[in-house]
Amino acid sequence: MKVRNSVATLVLVAATAGLAASASAQQAGENEYLQACAACHGESGKGMGPIAPLLNIDVPSLTTLAKNNDGVFPMLQVIHIIDGRSGVRGHGGIMPIWGDRFKSAMIESAGEYGAELLVRGRILALAQYLESIQE
Ligand code: HEC
Repeated sequence: MKVRNSVATLVLVAATAGLAASASAQQAGENEYLQACAACHGESGKGMGPIAPLLNIDVPSLTTLAKNNDGVFPMLQVIHIIDGRSGVRGHGGIMPIWGDRFKSAMIESAGEYGAELLVRGRILALAQYLESIQE
């Protein structure tokens, strides 16, 4: 019963969110980025975050993903890289597996199915934010 309620709430929340302008999705992606990614990839996305010098591997700029891919933002690949659960990783494997992290943070409140939906939403918002900061 509890699970069913939370799924219903989630569908309602998702539907309401869909009505709000995509400007808020952009804001959500940016907030998420600043919290989860900027420490390594830098506030501007250019790869010079405060902990980047402590890693033994270069942290790539995220503003040139389109430029490095013949001018096309590689949306699907970026989604897989951020998620990390599909096995598509950055080269060194230093990038955390965000799919797992986001999911375990939400599974108690949203349930298995709800948490998975929320994970995908958060990752999509992040990928769209990255698309918006391409040079
Ligand atoms: C602990 C530092 C760290 C954090 C935090 C981090 N990254 Fe990364 N990221 C890296 C490193 C290092 C690479 C280079 C590949 C590798 O070794 O995993 C990378 C690679 C990437 C790539 C592939 C870039 C390319 O040129 O192919 C993307 C996209 C990316 N990160 C997005 C993100 C997003 C979005 C977040 C936040 C949810 C994030 N990263 C958080 C360190 C980090």
